[in-house]
Amino acid sequence: MIELEGLTKRYGEKVAVDHLTFSVRPGVVTGFLGPNGAGKSTTMRLLLGLDRPTAGDIRIDGRHYDQLRDPLNYIGALLEAKSVHGGRSAYNHLLCLAQSNGIPERRVPEVLDMVGLTAVAKKRPKGFSLGMGQRLGIAQALLGDPRIVMFDEPVNGLDPEGIHWVRTLMQQLAAEGRTVFVSSHLMSEMSLTAEHLVVIGQGKLMADTSMAAFIHENSRTYVRLRTPEPERLRNVLHTAGIPAVAVSDGSLEVENVAAARLGELAAEHRIVLHELSPQQASLEEAFMQLTAGSVEYHAHTTAEGPEARRGGQGWGQGWQEGR
Ligand SMILES: Nc1ncnc2c1ncn2[C@@H]1O[C@H](COP(=O)(O)OP(=O)(O)OP(=O)(O)O)[C@@H](O)[C@H]1O
Ligand SMILES: [Mg+2]
Repeated sequence: MIELEGLTKRYGEKVAVDHLTFSVRPGVVTGFLGPNGAGKSTTMRLLLGLDRPTAGDIRIDGRHYDQLRDPLNYIGALLEAKSVHGGRSAYNHLLCLAQSNGIPERRVPEVLDMVGLTAVAKKRPKGFSLGMGQRLGIAQALLGDPRIVMFDEPVNGLDPEGIHWVRTLMQQLAAEGRTVFVSSHLMSEMSLTAEHLVVIGQGKLMADTSMAAFIHENSRTYVRLRTPEPERLRNVLHTAGIPAVAVSDGSLEVENVAAARLGELAAEHRIVLHELSPQQASLEEAFMQLTAGSVEYHAHTTAEGPEARRGGQGWGQGWQEGR
């Protein structure tokens, strides 16, 4: 269990973390989301005692990091994959950590095998690719078989197989009753991995809720209907007291009515339907909706945005339709 209480961190004028209070429970994967500069990495550094809070408190199973006797047995963390001694072999890097933390040497080949780096165990991390570095960082986090794991953007640079592996690993660690706290900007990946979410913006807590509730509360759910007779269908729905909105692509959208009821109404009036699909927003849409006001770093797009470019190249349309 990780507990934050009024956690605050200032760097001069900048309030990086602003009165954060929440808990990360064992047994589930908790996703930690927020726009660039929201304060995620700072929170994680404060947890590991790498920085001191300006105010408030942060505890691991009731204690501060520096009060833990064998910290690597309590909490394993991956913050920056490249923060290893580049000239020492991957094996020796892990061996040093094991020896200085009372962890048996047999754990070193075990974790190297778990992350798929056995073949390069004797090689120096200096020459590792980004993904190999991430894997070594994950091996390091798992070295002490900790009850709590914390990863800051662990899938950054991993190939699809690696991303899938990290997802399965995190879910497995949570299923074993461990506390798993992970930040990421990859929303589709996060929606597959995490059960609980903590969202922050400009250092402040914006949501602390289940994945399902977060998407439900921050997005619109509706049913999309397509028919060759949109006007007739709209009238039928109107008579039944159901407002339908006509969208520019020719479809109708209906909120707060089950798809089954809409299908039955269409059938009663012998109206052909080409589509009857409940639409649930993605985590990405819900996240962008919630955090729109707290994004600090915006890119400026040109008039010719991605949509225009895709259309211009003539392949975007086909790809869209082919999905
Ligand atoms: N050591 C530091 N000195 C001064 N400012 C800092 C320091 N560390 C972080 N900050 C500032 O605190 C804010 C939060 O940064 P942080 O790295 O925690 O954000 P983040 O949520 O991890 O962002 P990202 O998604 O880009 O990794 C930023 O405005 C950053 O510039
Ligand atoms: Mg960060």
